[in-house]
Amino acid sequence: SAIVEHTFVVSQMNMTHLCKETPVTVVNGQIPGPSIEVTEGDSVTVHVVNKSPHNITIHWHGVKQRRNCWSDGVPMVTQCPIQPNQNFTYRFSVAGQVGTLWWHAHVSCLRATLHGAIIIRPRLGASSYPFPKPDREIPFIIGDWWAMDLSVVARRMEKDNFFDYFPSASTINGKLGDLFNCSGVPEDGFVLGVEAGKSYLLRIINTALFSEYFLKIAGHKFTVVASDANYVRPYTTDLVVIAPGETIDALVVADAPPGKYYMVAMPNQAPLPDTQTPEPSTRATMQYSSSNGGKPVAPVMPDQHDVVRSLYFHSNLSSLRHPRHPLPPVPQQVDQHLFITLGLGMACRQGFKCNRDDKNDNMILVATMNNISFQKPTAPLLPAHYYHVAGSNRGDLLELPDRPPRVFNFTDPSLIPIGPKEKALETTYMATLARWFRYGSAVEMVFQSTSIMQGDSNPMHLHGHDMFVLAQGVGNFDAAKDRARYNLVDPPLKNTVVVPNLGWVAIRFVADNPGVWYMHCHYEFHLAMGMTAVFIVEDGPTVNTSLPAPPVDYPSCGRPNRKKGS
Ligand code: C2O
Repeated sequence: SAIVEHTFVVSQMNMTHLCKETPVTVVNGQIPGPSIEVTEGDSVTVHVVNKSPHNITIHWHGVKQRRNCWSDGVPMVTQCPIQPNQNFTYRFSVAGQVGTLWWHAHVSCLRATLHGAIIIRPRLGASSYPFPKPDREIPFIIGDWWAMDLSVVARRMEKDNFFDYFPSASTINGKLGDLFNCSGVPEDGFVLGVEAGKSYLLRIINTALFSEYFLKIAGHKFTVVASDANYVRPYTTDLVVIAPGETIDALVVADAPPGKYYMVAMPNQAPLPDTQTPEPSTRATMQYSSSNGGKPVAPVMPDQHDVVRSLYFHSNLSSLRHPRHPLPPVPQQVDQHLFITLGLGMACRQGFKCNRDDKNDNMILVATMNNISFQKPTAPLLPAHYYHVAGSNRGDLLELPDRPPRVFNFTDPSLIPIGPKEKALETTYMATLARWFRYGSAVEMVFQSTSIMQGDSNPMHLHGHDMFVLAQGVGNFDAAKDRARYNLVDPPLKNTVVVPNLGWVAIRFVADNPGVWYMHCHYEFHLAMGMTAVFIVEDGPTVNTSLPAPPVDYPSCGRPNRKKGS
């Protein structure tokens, strides 16, 4: 196995789209940033040089980071952020995972411009893929473009915890495409040149802050072969649905009459991108080398808010067991059950006193799990956990309850406690939510959406572990009925699972990676508003099941680190 080394210089520059110059924070001057291409088993070293005016961390989304939580890149959870003019080197290896993952800044909003692909190829080469070897492989990154300075959006969010900020456009591989224009001049779009009869593996990533996307190519079908760096049983469809944080690898064969075909990515999430833009979708072009001009063919898109499409697409994924690609067993017994409702509420701003009828600015809108909103810690949790720093142990953290405070008909819109808009939201509070797991415990979680989330599906992402997705459905989870539907044979293994709009999803995972792991909604605004918790996996009985010491150049801030046991 090799060492793959990169230097990521983070800087701020101006970029112009839609006739407007916007300050953006980027890696090596490009959006998307560089792809990291590795073979399974390789070690990756990334030197991050922060020349931007912002605090930065980089998260390697979906990389399991076994016994390596120190490199997970979550500010104030796994590390102090890398401050302007500081450097930090992330080191990790990629084992037991093949396919597409990605990296992104884990600092509010900046991931819209600070992201790139991670491509993991099998040790035995492309001929060991459990599907026909593609002629070419192409990263296909769906994102959103913000004409506003995102560091300003982030600052306002921190202050008010409220947003009415929307992306200005959607992008494919950083390009807005010809549905967008500046004074009538169309924006550049991504062009995929193909040859008739050849096959292409699209490594599709949704990096958007905002929306799940529908993706279609006129005249062509996708065969989905992997998701979140796990193979899936090949599944043929004309529509890919991908939520923020997910990756989908899909084969496309150039088997249509030679010509030009639009590849359209349409955000399906309310609210829509802002009204200055004529059309929220973006498109790229698939262009046959043998074609001689002509008008591109456009695909027929589903209704933008047809939420059932997402449920249908995700329900059709199953894992592929193959002698060359072993998978961990699906846990058949469960040690801990969690039932987690996702919602919104009103909470008193940190450091203020509010009374129940406080109509002033001190009550802010927050996003919740089991009706509690995550409060960002002021010193990083991982070193506190590792060194058992007094006063930053369990006492400062609140245990995430294993069920919501009351049983409710979660998804009946008529049963939201309605009043004037603010009164529709339950009163809640903020706390640094954590849940402890003994090493090796098998955990079942049911994520239940609630009426207040209407219009949103929630992509829930767990760091450091993959989750088996056992079942999903609309309405309220009914344990007796829905457990009987669990797929315990070949459920897909994912790091980001989609909770259907007004529905639920049930997952299982084994907590076998010691450390402090973020678990959150991958909509940037839900994350920033507190739909978050940390999962603390205790050390196992041996050295090989315990978290080793932090790297030597581990950045510090706040409280000094202490020696273990002192
Ligand atoms: Cu891709 Cu914690 O995120």
